[in-house]
Amino acid sequence: MTEKPTLLRTDRLLLRPWRETDLAPWAAMNADPEVRQHLGGVMTRDQSDASVRRFQEEFAARGYGWWAVEVRESGAFVGFAGLDDVDEEMPFTGVEIGWRLDRSAWGHGYATEAALACLDFGFEQLGLDGILALTTVGNLRSQAVMRRIGMTRDPAEDFDDPTVPDGPLRANVVYRISRERRRRDAARQAGQARRGR
Ligand SMILES: CC(C)(COP(=O)(O)OP(=O)(O)OC[C@H]1O[C@@H](n2cnc3c(N)ncnc32)[C@H](O)[C@@H]1OP(=O)(O)O)[C@@H](O)C(=O)NCCC(=O)NCCS
Repeated sequence: MTEKPTLLRTDRLLLRPWRETDLAPWAAMNADPEVRQHLGGVMTRDQSDASVRRFQEEFAARGYGWWAVEVRESGAFVGFAGLDDVDEEMPFTGVEIGWRLDRSAWGHGYATEAALACLDFGFEQLGLDGILALTTVGNLRSQAVMRRIGMTRDPAEDFDDPTVPDGPLRANVVYRISRERRRRDAARQAGQARRGR
């Protein structure tokens, strides 16, 4: 079996293994209340550093996880994107896709671009039949990314996150995409690119 790639390249981004130099900008993002608005409060430097150690261990053990995202033109680290196993406390199982970017990197289409590469990795390299995404009802920016990459929500799957106390972060939505849906979308996008649209 061929080794799975640890680095994904898109038009504008690199999804790559984490480096020591990512720790400070990652901690700055995690200390930003706007970035953490839907994620349960800001993180300390120690918590933020520990999260990277965990990402590295998980990636090494499974061959997938959270990649560091870098803008190719500037070499700037701007956040993370990737695939993870759904937490066991959740009412379903599967592999979820996710993203978190520095506030300065919002509004450029980077999350969408990174996420499409992660979907293709999940379907082509991991052989998944479907990928899901979870977020709070109020995280409209994240839900917009889900829709942009072709995911759809079934309101019947909305759930209360059992790990979160009562409050605005408890009610969650679920978006999903199948391998077949991604295959059709990718074929359409390739056709549009060939026709110069
Ligand atoms: C969720 C999050 C990653 C979304 O980032 P984002 O930049 O809004 O999402 P996208 O990458 O899809 O970018 C889309 C925006 O870029 C704009 N854009 C600019 N240039 C673009 C380009 N070349 N291609 C595509 N979109 C482009 C789009 O018009 C859109 O703008 P809008 O927000 O005004 O509608 C970001 O808000 C974030 O990190 N939030 C905090 C962490 C978080 O909540 N993570 C999710 C947990 S579930």
